[in-house]
This record gives sequence, structure tokens and C-alpha cells, in this order.
Amino acid sequence: MPRKSPGHRTTSRKKQHVDITLTKDVRFRGKTTGLERLEFVHNALPELNFDEIDTGTRFLDKELSIPLMVSCMTGGYRGAQAINRDLAAVCESAHIALGVGSQRQALEESQYHRTFSVVREAAPTIPIVGNIGAAEVARMKDPSAALKLAELVGADAFTVHLNPLQEFLQPEGNPAFRGVLAGIAMLVRSLPIPVIVKEIGSGLSPDVIRRLLDAGVRIIDVAGAGGTSWAGVEALRRTDPGIAERFWDWGIPTARALADAAALRSEGRQMTLIASGGIVSGLDTARCIALGADMTASARPLLGALHRRGRKGLRALIEDWSNDIRGVMFLTGSARISDLRSAKLVTYRDL
Ligand SMILES: Cc1cc2nc3c(=O)[nH]c(=O)nc-3n(C[C@H](O)[C@H](O)[C@H](O)COP(=O)(O)O)c2cc1C
Repeated sequence: MPRKSPGHRTTSRKKQHVDITLTKDVRFRGKTTGLERLEFVHNALPELNFDEIDTGTRFLDKELSIPLMVSCMTGGYRGAQAINRDLAAVCESAHIALGVGSQRQALEESQYHRTFSVVREAAPTIPIVGNIGAAEVARMKDPSAALKLAELVGADAFTVHLNPLQEFLQPEGNPAFRGVLAGIAMLVRSLPIPVIVKEIGSGLSPDVIRRLLDAGVRIIDVAGAGGTSWAGVEALRRTDPGIAERFWDWGIPTARALADAAALRSEGRQMTLIASGGIVSGLDTARCIALGADMTASARPLLGALHRRGRKGLRALIEDWSNDIRGVMFLTGSARISDLRSAKLVTYRDL
């Protein structure tokens, strides 16, 4: 038997991730995002007409219809081309941003480059974000590989995902995180586009965010716990799920991670904050904006909508979320997204 290339292993893992997240229940079990406990104070005197509400925002110097991005998911295997083309076409028509999945496979071989490059063809105007994992960044000596990956998708920004839980639980994982921060600092210094750093569902703590900001990162995606559990995905991939089962609910809930990140601004630290991890409605997006986010992102719920109901279904879901946001803005007297930022959130259950 010929030895399988590293590229082959990445390819089949990326396909398994999509298949498992679409067909199995990989949500956190004993933990939620915490967002569902937060309610807006109802404003019975909004003093504004519904049709005056503007849900638009700017992200990466481009206009979006709502503060939403389809979070980084896929690429690098045969079936990913159709998924990325569909996601890109819907994002383009809905005027929201799109991230591609880890481009590691494209570093290893050129076979599936089109699964990534197809996004810019289908979405010429929206913000598109490239993606690579922490372990790859730790090994990068210079920015040349990252530059090529960013060019492949015509990226407006380049994301590094921090996934220590996933790397440690994957049988073929690479939990070699020494040098990641220096690699990120090198990319920040060398790339002509902004670097985004995200988790993948275990959240970023204030301490980690401080270190990222000190390294020059200006866009942070907390990607907290309460949505897709990557320990859960690994539990379903492994023949010996025990350890992955025990880490199923590991991580900082999205609402906590976001509130703590936003609080860093009172130390004078500036950043663009993206909230993700378990965002399942426009109400969640609105709650995140009120908690201090500039943008939100969602992965599995949107991929699921595309898988089950096609482009039209995904478009309809984004429209639902957009209407949720507009509704919250009307009922809190917020004409603009910037007004929503100062809307009050409470937990009535505590009263
Ligand atoms: C099928 C699938 C593949 C993913 N692959 C990547 C990836 O390659 N790079 C990355 O940064 N995040 C990846 N993610 C993580 C998401 O971007 C997101 O951070 C995480 O799923 C939490 O969001 P959610 O609760 O909305 O799913 C993937 C998510 C899914 C569902």
C-alpha cells in the first residue's frame, strides 16, 4: 500500500467533520451559551417608525446588511466545493460576510484549491476571510504560505483558529502549541490584511485576549461554548470516545467570554469583537451586540440550513434572523446598530 499523504488525512478529516456535524447531535450537553438568559428591557415608547430602522454595519471596510458572518467551516475535499460555492452565493446575495475552513490542505497539495477559490468567484463584493490552524502558524517561519492562502480566496482578513482541545482529542491531532503567539505576531506584522484570532467553541479568556492584543491582533472572535462541541465531534469520531466524552462540555460560555472581552475596553484596550459559538437566532445576534460585540458569526446552524433546505432555505433563515434583529431594534428604540449597543439586558429570572 502506498503511504497516504498528509493532505489525504486532512481531506478525509474535513469531510468527516461536515458529515458528523450535519447528522449527529454535537451540541453541548450540560452547558449553554448563557445568551438565552439575557432579555432586553421592553421599550413601549420606542419613538421611531419600524421602517426607519437600519440594521447595516461595516466590517473589514465593507457594508453588511446585518452584523453576521458565516463562520469558517470547510474546503479541501471534493464535496467542499459545492458547499463553499453555495455559502458564498447566499452570503453575497444577503450581504453578509463569509469565512472559509482551514486552508491547511491547500498548503499540503494543490488538488482542491478550487474548493477555496470558488468563494471569491461566487461572492465578488462581500468580506471573505481565510483560515489556518494554530499548529500550522507555530511552524511558519515567514508569511509566504499565509499570503498564498489569503490570495487563494481574495481574503479581506486572515483568521488563525486556536483549537487546543480539538488537537489534543484528535487521534491524528497536532497539540504542538509552543510558538503560536510568536507566529501570530509575525503574521500581524507581515500580512497586508488584518489578522483575526478565534477559538472554535471553547472560548477565549480575558488573559488570552490580552496576550493576543499585545501581539498586535485587533480582531477577536471569542467562539465560546454552548453551540457546537468539538470534543463531542471527536467523541463520535474516535473508536475510544471516553476521554472526548469527559471533555464534551469544556469551555467558557459565549455570553461570559463576550462580556469579559468587552470589559477589557475599560482598560483602554481597543478591538473589533466578534461573538460566536451557539448563535442560533437574530435575537442572539442582538444580545451579543448589546453585550459589546461588533459582529456575530454562526457555523453549524447555517450549514445545517443549507444542507436540509438548500440555498433558498439558508437565505430564508438569514432573512428570519434579520427580521429578529429589526424587531429587537424596534422594541428597544434602537434606530441603528450603534444604538443597540447601549440597549439594556436583564435577567428577570433573578428578580
Ligand atoms: C463542519 C464544521 C467545520 C469547521 N471547521 C473549521 C475550520 O476549519 N476552521 C475554523 O476556524 N473553525 C472551524 N469550525 C468552527 C466554527 O467556525 C465555529 O467556531 C464553531 O463551530 C462554533 O460555532 P457554532 O456553535 O455556530 O457551530 C468548523 C465548524 C463546523 C460546523
